[in-house]
Amino acid sequence: MKDKSVWKVWDENNEYGEVFYKRATGQLPEMESSKAAAKLIKDDVTEGDKILDVGCGSGHYLRSLRSALKINFFYTGVDATSNYINLGKRAFVNDAGVDFCLGDIYNLPFDENSFDIVMCNNVLLHLPSIQKPLNELIRVSKKTVLIRTLIGDRSFRIQDVSPASEIEFNGDGEPTSFYYYNIYSQKYLNYLLKSSGKVNNFQIIKDVFFDPQNIESSTSEHRDAHNVTKIIGDFQVNGYIIQPWKFLKINIIVPKNGNVLM
Ligand SMILES: C[S@@+](CC[C@H](N)C(=O)[O-])C[C@H]1O[C@@H](n2cnc3c(N)ncnc32)[C@H](O)[C@@H]1O
Repeated sequence: MKDKSVWKVWDENNEYGEVFYKRATGQLPEMESSKAAAKLIKDDVTEGDKILDVGCGSGHYLRSLRSALKINFFYTGVDATSNYINLGKRAFVNDAGVDFCLGDIYNLPFDENSFDIVMCNNVLLHLPSIQKPLNELIRVSKKTVLIRTLIGDRSFRIQDVSPASEIEFNGDGEPTSFYYYNIYSQKYLNYLLKSSGKVNNFQIIKDVFFDPQNIESSTSEHRDAHNVTKIIGDFQVNGYIIQPWKFLKINIIVPKNGNVLM
């Protein structure tokens, strides 16, 4: 596990965990992005497949997978925040074929090719770097990797400085605590993906699979837990940031000789 650092503020956010738990147990509606992710992998999943959800929160995407897929599959959720993992275990305590574990996307606690489908939604934008995380998602998958993150024509490194403390910046002007909302260019993703011997091909799909009213009504659910997303024109806006949400869908090929360039 990486050391706690200023970008990694998840553990302190109990209210966010509560929202995840309520979504996982059906006390709050499914997220628009979890419905979209389930729709986009539906045709890739076959009976008995193993699905890994990285940065799973409390397993709330499992609800959408179940309602979209209608077949048997195994679900594993992994997250770096122990509070969210414990809530996930509690939410699905009576369910067979569901597993949660603590783990870091920079060093996933699984062997190569352990899962058919690997999902990672709304996580990469919050990380300080994505090369290793992307390699890890590809390493453990043997069929499909689906990622939802911010992808644009150019890359931007954005820090949303946490209002948790009035000391927002240290003497050197560095934020004392913040969330990244990084946008990565398609060019950079092409560069990262072309060097992997396991990437057969990939698509970047604009996330247009949402009902604007549902996005905006989540304001009351989040209360002060997190910036909420609003719709302005065609854009999703979080705080002051216009977000170019995309799904990156990677088709994996496992080389027969097992030699994989990463
Ligand atoms: C914005 S939430 C997204 C949760 C869920 N996938 C969703 O779309 O609602 C980001 C999640 O990533 C997790 N996370 C942050 N850093 C991580 C890391 N290094 N490894 C694994 N999970 C991480 C956080 O704990 C949090 O649950």
